[in-house]
Amino acid sequence: MKLSSRLDTIKNKVTDHYDHIWDCCCDHGQLGVALLSSQPKSVIHFVDVVDELMVDLESQLQKHASAIQSQWQVHCMDVANLPLVKGKKNLIIIAGVGGDLLIELVRSIQTRNSDIELEFILCPVLHNYMVRCELVEMGFGLISETVVKENKRFYEVLHISNQAAKPIAPVGSDMWNLSDSDHQEYLKKTISHYQRMEVNLKCTSRVTELYLGILN
Ligand SMILES: C[S@@+](CC[C@H](N)C(=O)[O-])C[C@H]1O[C@@H](n2cnc3c(N)ncnc32)[C@H](O)[C@@H]1O
Repeated sequence: MKLSSRLDTIKNKVTDHYDHIWDCCCDHGQLGVALLSSQPKSVIHFVDVVDELMVDLESQLQKHASAIQSQWQVHCMDVANLPLVKGKKNLIIIAGVGGDLLIELVRSIQTRNSDIELEFILCPVLHNYMVRCELVEMGFGLISETVVKENKRFYEVLHISNQAAKPIAPVGSDMWNLSDSDHQEYLKKTISHYQRMEVNLKCTSRVTELYLGILN
């Protein structure tokens, strides 16, 4: 099945080898299934909290087992309790959930695994500014970041690690390409959003200023 541009962008960020790749909040497992082919030497873990989804996914994977070369595991559980494999290289992907939940999950994983290297690819639905500020506070650095437009909505894909030295900018840095009309549209929408918040809540002028700074 063809991946959406958002999931395809995430998949294309997986260029290094990882012993374990965790497709968290995987739903029907589209991303993980694509990773089975692109990363055949990794163990691909499918993780979601909905039992029926995981039962169905597991039976689909078993049905096609002869065509799948990579190892995989299905976990019906809360991502907050992710059983990372210590002493091995893990990549944790969390996409398609709201910024508040995403940060709650990253924080829980970090608290339980404070002694190991942690590398994430994250793609929240909304609240990117808050997500970035929380990641900075948790001590993560940037590997790469990309803006994606899908079905008229914009997403930010963040590849981060607790070993990366490059700071994460609260309003993004490397991802902006203002010669791209989609990026202009996204920045304009974001600035308008914070300007409206400023009027309604009288508290976010600093955020608007930071986004306006990208234009200069
Ligand atoms: C919209 S789907 C995202 C699917 C896919 N990752 C994507 O980006 O298209 C969100 C999924 O997150 C799962 N989910 C929400 N909270 C979770 C948690 N704490 N632990 C595991 N899965 C969770 C839901 O069951 C749902 O299947």
